Amino acid sequence: MSETAQLKIGDKTYDFPVIEGTEGEKAIDISKLRDQTGYVTLDIGYKNTGATQSAITFLDGELGVLKYRGYPIEQLASKSSFIEVAYLLIYGELPTEKQLADFQLHISRHTLVHEDMKKFFDGFPSKSHPMGQLSSLVCSLSAFYPESLKSNQSEAELDLSIIKMLGKMATIVSWIYKKSLGHPFIYPRNKYDYVTNFLHMTFGQRTEEIEIDPVIVSAMNTLLILHADHEQNCSTSTVRIVGSSESNIYASVSAGISALWGPLHGGANQAVIEMLEKIKEDGGDTDKWIKKAKDKNDTFRLMGFGHRVYKNFDPRAKIIKKACDDILEKLGIDDEVLEIAKKLEEVALKDNYFIERKLYPNVDFYSGIIYRALGFPTDMFTVLFALGRLPGWIAQWKEMKEHKEPIGRPRQIYVGKVNREYVDIKSR
Ligand code: CMC
Repeated sequence: MSETAQLKIGDKTYDFPVIEGTEGEKAIDISKLRDQTGYVTLDIGYKNTGATQSAITFLDGELGVLKYRGYPIEQLASKSSFIEVAYLLIYGELPTEKQLADFQLHISRHTLVHEDMKKFFDGFPSKSHPMGQLSSLVCSLSAFYPESLKSNQSEAELDLSIIKMLGKMATIVSWIYKKSLGHPFIYPRNKYDYVTNFLHMTFGQRTEEIEIDPVIVSAMNTLLILHADHEQNCSTSTVRIVGSSESNIYASVSAGISALWGPLHGGANQAVIEMLEKIKEDGGDTDKWIKKAKDKNDTFRLMGFGHRVYKNFDPRAKIIKKACDDILEKLGIDDEVLEIAKKLEEVALKDNYFIERKLYPNVDFYSGIIYRALGFPTDMFTVLFALGRLPGWIAQWKEMKEHKEPIGRPRQIYVGKVNREYVDIKSR
C-alpha cells in the first residue's frame, strides 16, 4: 500500500500522498494543499521544498554522494571529458563514439559569435566584472538568434539553440578575458575539442602558435566536470523558474549567471582566494581567522566552507583537493596560499563550531588555487564556474520544458499594513 501523510488542522484531517524517488528519498506531495485546506506552506530559503521531480542529478548530502544520470562523480571526473559529460547531462545517456564526434562537430560549427557582438565588448569598461559582462552578453545572443524566442520550438530547433548556447559560451568567456587584457580576440578553431579550443582562445596569441599543455587540458576538464550540475541550487532554480515563463534559453541562462555571481554561491571561488591572500598578508595566523569566522559579532565567514545540502563532506572538494596537489606539482608551482588553505581546513575540521554545524570545505575551497595555477585572474573564477555549470543549466531547462512544468510562482504570507486610507500629500 502506498504511504500517505496526514495533516490535522483543527478537527479536520487531510491525507497527502507520499512519493518516493528512485534513490529512496521521500516527499509529501502537497500540490493539492491549498485547494483542500486553504493553507499554504512557509519555507523561507526552500530548505524543505522539492521544486520538481528530476532525473538528472542525485546528491545525498548526508553521505557525500553526487551522481550525474546515475554515474558517480568520481568515475566521471577521472574517466570522462567535459563535452561527454555535457552530452550525458543534456541527453540522458553516455554517447557512442559517433554521437560524441557529431556533438563535438556540431558545437564547433557554432562557436563563432556575430561580428556585431564585438561592439558590446567595446562598450564595457575594461575593468568591469566579467560576470556582469557574461550575463549581458549571453542574454544579448537572443537578439541575434530570434528563432530562439519561439516558445514552441520543434525538437530540432530546440537542439540547435542548445548547440549554439554551448558553442558561443566558450568564445564569449575567452573574449571577456582577452578584453580585460586589451588583447585582440582569438577566433575558435574547429580542429580542437571544446576544452582545448577554449584554452586556445583564452591563452592563444595572434602573433604565434601556442602549445596547449595536456596537463592544463586535463585539469580544466576535471574542474568543468565537477561543476557541471548540482541539482536545484540557486542558479539552476533561477534558470528553471525563468524558463518556466517560456523565456528563451539565452535569457534563462543569463539569469542563472546572475544568480551564480553572488559570494554565497559561485562567487565563493573568487572570495576564497581573496580571503586566503588577506590571511597571507596578515601574517598567516589561521587561528585568528578561524576565531573571526566563529564570532557572531563579526561578519567574516570562512569562504569555501559549508553547504546547504552537504552535511558530511562535499565529494567534489575531495577530488579537487587531490587535483590541486597533482596539478601544482606537475606545473612545478609552489603556492603559499595552498598551505594556508590546508592549515585552515585542518584547524576547522577539529573545531567544535564547525563540527557541530557540519561545515566542511566545499567545491570552491580549492578550485581557485587551481584556476590561479592555470593562469586565470581571480575575477575570472566565477565565469569558469558558469562555463562548467552551463550543461547542467541547459539539461535542467530542457527537462523543465519536457515536463511542461507550470510557471514558477511561489505564494507568500502577507505581513504588511492592512486597510489604510489614502492621505493627501499636504496632510502627511
Ligand atoms: N563560516 C562560518 N560560519 C558558517 C559558515 C562559514 N562558511 N557557513 C555557515 N556557518 C554557520 C552560520 O553562521 C550558522 O551558524 P548559527 O547556526 O550559529 O547561526 C550555521 O553555520 C548554518 O549556516 P546557514 O547560513 O544557515 O547555512 P545555509 O545552508 O543557509 O548556507 C552556505 C550555506 C553555503 C550559504 C554557507 O555555508 C556559507 O555562507 N558558506 C560560505 C560561502 C560559500 O563557500 N559558498 C559556496 C557554496 S558551494 C558552491 C555552490 O554550489 O554554490
